[in-house]
Amino acid sequence: MERPIVELNNVRFTYPDGTPALAGVDLCVARGQTLGLIGPNGAGKSTLLLHLNGILKQHGSVRISGMEVVDRNLSSIRGKVGLVFQDPDAQLFMPTVFDDVAFGPVNMQLPKVAVQEAVVNALELVDMLPAMKRSSHHLSFGEKKRISIATVLSMNPEILVLDEPTSNLDPKHRRGLIELLKELPVTKIIATHDLEFVIEICDCVAVLDRGKIIAQGDVVNILSDKRLLEAHGLEVPHSLRKDAHRHIPGAIEKSLHPPLERIQ
Ligand SMILES: Nc1ncnc2c1ncn2[C@@H]1O[C@H](COP(=O)(O)OP(=O)(O)OP(=O)(O)O)[C@@H](O)[C@H]1O
Ligand SMILES: [Mg+2]
Repeated sequence: MERPIVELNNVRFTYPDGTPALAGVDLCVARGQTLGLIGPNGAGKSTLLLHLNGILKQHGSVRISGMEVVDRNLSSIRGKVGLVFQDPDAQLFMPTVFDDVAFGPVNMQLPKVAVQEAVVNALELVDMLPAMKRSSHHLSFGEKKRISIATVLSMNPEILVLDEPTSNLDPKHRRGLIELLKELPVTKIIATHDLEFVIEICDCVAVLDRGKIIAQGDVVNILSDKRLLEAHGLEVPHSLRKDAHRHIPGAIEKSLHPPLERIQ
């Protein structure tokens, strides 16, 4: 069997002020998989994602395609792992949208024409081409989020790591992002509270709480498990509550509402 493209082994992290964030995370993601990372506020999702390209590191090991995430490998790792931060203001720092989206390709030392092409292509994918010459700081939050996604798409990464990618997106652009991600054949790891989004695009899901992976597996199995979800500040998403009555064997006992027959 092929080695997982992402391997975390006993990853622990405590912030300098003493706040514990990761309490021994073991996680493997297969090449080509789309993993949804869910869990309540403060569970450690963003902290975990920041380990995937070496922004944070303390105890334990993180490997990408077998390569340990340590200082000497960082430039290579960052060419493979494209990370979109939860907060777009942390991602965008150049004078114009063009410069922000060109930053990765320029660092990868692509020729000028290839940089221009990568930027135009990435901006088109997030429907932001007309903003190319604007200052990122003047954009709305949702527009900034889309530019942040473009800064990573322009690098054509092997692993796309997205932190709350749908937050603040309007329905049309949320839908556009879903269609785009479905078509991108790369490995994706996505932290989100948007469980309907997880149902649409993920093929497995991991629940994180208090810095530990509580469960990992099939999306429908985990997202229909009322007891599991409610114990960790989550709830069964609407579409599975309805489906639970109709399609999922054994899910009636687990659903939020009593079976339909009992209501009627
Ligand atoms: N820079 C920081 N300094 C100190 N503590 C921090 C810092 N960033 C995060 N934390 C703490 O680390 C823990 C994990 O936070 P993290 O941001 O990883 O959670 P999260 O699961 O991404 O939450 P959310 O769903 O709100 O995005 C929380 O207790 C948080 O308060
Ligand atoms: Mg977060």
